[in-house]
Amino acid sequence: MQTQVAIIGAGPAGLLLGHLLRAEGIECVVLERQTGPYVLSRIRAGVLEQVTVGLMERLGLDARMKAEGLAHDGFHLADGKRLIRIDIAGLTGKQVMVYGQTELTRDLMEATAGRGLEVIHEAADVALHDIESDAPFVTFRKDGAACRLDARLIVGCDGFHGPSRKAIPASAGREYERVYPFGWLGILADVPPCNHELIYANHERGFALASMRSHARSRYYVDVPLAERIEDWPDDRIWDELAIRLGPEAAAHITRGPAIEKSIAPLRSYVFAPMRHGSLMLCGDSAHIVPPTGAKGLNLAASDVHYAAEALVRFFKAKDPDGISGYSDKALARVWKSERFSWSLTRLMHRFPEDGAFERAMQVAELDYIAGSRAAQTSIAENYVGLPV
Ligand code: APR
Ligand code: PHB
Repeated sequence: MQTQVAIIGAGPAGLLLGHLLRAEGIECVVLERQTGPYVLSRIRAGVLEQVTVGLMERLGLDARMKAEGLAHDGFHLADGKRLIRIDIAGLTGKQVMVYGQTELTRDLMEATAGRGLEVIHEAADVALHDIESDAPFVTFRKDGAACRLDARLIVGCDGFHGPSRKAIPASAGREYERVYPFGWLGILADVPPCNHELIYANHERGFALASMRSHARSRYYVDVPLAERIEDWPDDRIWDELAIRLGPEAAAHITRGPAIEKSIAPLRSYVFAPMRHGSLMLCGDSAHIVPPTGAKGLNLAASDVHYAAEALVRFFKAKDPDGISGYSDKALARVWKSERFSWSLTRLMHRFPEDGAFERAMQVAELDYIAGSRAAQTSIAENYVGLPV
């Protein structure tokens, strides 16, 4: 098989890129290890920045998002005493769209056949070859048969554990990493949310987040030590903990219900640089991870894809390679700012086991500063709605 761009991974990054390239008449094939239903069973965050909404609009795949998504004008930070509202619309003139990553991925997946985007699911043993040449190729197995896909460029959209980043020689890149001493225990339930906006809480018992997928479906999180087991968290224990950590105002409006999904996810900050090596470009989680505080993961994948699509269109249509050679610097400039914001919001809103009285006093002072300063709130708001691409 031969194509112009081989895309590894059919998560949101790979599907978005595939659709953008097809819309420009560039040939591509997407190789995905899992089945479509498996990809859709992964529950991820659900707050979209303008960059992500804009790409769906550009593709004409925004109808369901516009009908079912919830546009939010603000969110709250709770510090155990009060709710500090960050008026993102008032401070930045922008909103965020609450719409699950699962739903966005479903919209992209359902449009593949109609738009002639070829996605090969259950592609096993995907391996990248000759990425330092102008004729890279990918080998894989499909239904037991050995297959080969030749391309001019390969884009790795295969998440943190995929083979793309690992194909880059260690001497050609650098890893930056911070692993956090806790994970987020998430619960999804078909109950109305406790507030019409999100609440991120820093309580003496730990972090909590009240989020939602719709007016009838809520998503909540509490942070737990990494060694914790999901079996030790029956639904009632999670609801009790949420009620304490989110504070009495939110607790009064919590509706409890059976979990339809429950899982523990570790928190990590990670960047691999550069994001291009030879004929291989990386997008999304394959190149970087942010902790979920601030919901930047999917949005960063979308901004990478925006830059990558721009570079690839320039390469194939104008025969100009400068977009490809400048891709990594351009993408990383935005990646690092989102890494900083996600890390700083994580630092502010969690109780770290190694923290002493001084670190705690710094959190109290910072939350108090934010509560009283329009400048501080504006800084948080402009990062939350998403920095420009
Ligand atoms: N071969 C083919 N596909 C693979 C392989 C492989 N060896 N390994 C992984 N993949 C696929 C995964 O099955 C998955 O469908 O690559 C896809 C990667 O998707 P995501 O992990 O969702 O990553 P990305 O598309 O970059 O989206 C970023 O996802 O994890 C969240 O926080 C993150 O919300 C952000 C978004
Ligand atoms: C979610 O709804 O799952 C969610 C929302 C905001 C975050 C993280 C996760 O910061």
